[in-house]
Amino acid sequence: MCNTLLPLACTACLAFVLLAGLGCLDNLAAPDKPALPATLNWGASSDSSSDGEAVEATRLSVSNATLDDLRSRLKAFKFVEPVENSGFEYGFNGAFMKQLVSHWLNKYNWRVWEDRLNSFPNYFTRIEGLKVHFMHLKPSKQGVKKRVPLLILHGWPGSVFEFYKLIPLLTTPDTDGLAFEVVAPSIPGYGWSEAAKKRGFSAAACARVFDKLMVRLGYRQYYIQAGDFGSVIGHVMPRLFPERVLGFHTNMPVQPVRQPSIMIQTILGSFLPEGVLFSRLDCGKLFPYLENFGNTIRESGHMHLHSTRPDSVGHALSDSPVGLAAYIIEKFSVWTLPENLFAENGNLVGLKATFSLNELLTNVMIYWTTGSITSSMRLYKESFGSDMEATSAYQSMPSDVPYGVTCLAHELSRVPERFVRVTNPNLLHYADFDYGGHFAAFELPDLMNSEVRAFVRAAEKFYAEKRPNKFEGVRSEL
Ligand SMILES: *[C@@H]1O[C@H](CO)[C@@H](O)[C@H](O)[C@H]1NC(C)=O
Repeated sequence: MCNTLLPLACTACLAFVLLAGLGCLDNLAAPDKPALPATLNWGASSDSSSDGEAVEATRLSVSNATLDDLRSRLKAFKFVEPVENSGFEYGFNGAFMKQLVSHWLNKYNWRVWEDRLNSFPNYFTRIEGLKVHFMHLKPSKQGVKKRVPLLILHGWPGSVFEFYKLIPLLTTPDTDGLAFEVVAPSIPGYGWSEAAKKRGFSAAACARVFDKLMVRLGYRQYYIQAGDFGSVIGHVMPRLFPERVLGFHTNMPVQPVRQPSIMIQTILGSFLPEGVLFSRLDCGKLFPYLENFGNTIRESGHMHLHSTRPDSVGHALSDSPVGLAAYIIEKFSVWTLPENLFAENGNLVGLKATFSLNELLTNVMIYWTTGSITSSMRLYKESFGSDMEATSAYQSMPSDVPYGVTCLAHELSRVPERFVRVTNPNLLHYADFDYGGHFAAFELPDLMNSEVRAFVRAAEKFYAEKRPNKFEGVRSEL
């Protein structure tokens, strides 16, 4: 009896010690909060005007001269001969580009989409020396019992336009009367938000600017929803401002990078059969990174350009609308569904198209007319280049602020629930879907609306039960 129990007990003991040890190692490896950039004014050194508190309503408008210039460039477009039967595998297909340019010149009408953008209330305010653009929407009064402030953050190569279908859903009360007050800023250097003139404007610097924006608008506490680069920025915010951020929901979870328990499990899991350490689903999330690291490198090849010398490719993209459209729209094809790589038209038209050409061109137009592609890419250099250390430290910093994840099938960065929990013990919502790509809010507004609501309901329950003192309630006079 003893003989049979002993090895079992020993194994159990060993496993316990190992796991506890790994947990301790994780704690030791958890980085300190890195210092925030010392710069508090990102404007030009010659400009000493102060921020003030002013928030100005604005109408987004592009001049006729800009549109005329664009037409003449599109007409002068130089055809790039594609390799036969190559689809989008070599990048945006030249034959399909002819079709896109013709659509852009003859069917697309910017003024229609400009009006659509202006159907949302747009504002500017100055923060840390930068003119920051944002949309701010309050729910209609009818049927609203509870208003919850929500900051929504876009990424690259997207814009606030990605939210144009989601925002009206968020501001509409559900059956419980819950509706969001939505703040959707353009990241500084993206679209209408001014780019930093000084070095060092990283994801963490941007997190500070967005928190100041929420405070300026009168929100003492708020939730965040984010994808892509917005998620890198948003992930920093509960770590810097835990007293104000009530919860963070993301469709692109950030992988903790320094936790020994995660590294060891990943390595073990890569040669143990499926199901032993990781479920089949989790293997699919993890092992593309290990077994086929080239995959990740290929998909983040754009990041290499960005994180080293963004301005060189920036010259090309700022000078050619066709080049800009190819670079941006290719991502909306391939990152939405990997198999779009194999279609001659990238599945950008036809029955398999996820977005309309007009929608995709509107996003490109925002980059083109504001001339912001170069500054948008600098965020990679500032966050993953020289200042990589600081950004990865935030990636591994634990936070007990409620966290929620919607894990879509074709998201570029999918992190198993167990790993998200290592740095986010209050992971209150984690949902897997067997469809959906990287641009979740743009592709699946209804799903994202219900996902954010499910997360916020879980967080409100958490506060009611466990932290009755944290939640101060939403400013009611708004
Ligand atoms: C562009 O030109 C049209 C026609 O001449 C004019 O009505 C419109 O006001 C102009 N728009 C802008 C933004 O200048």
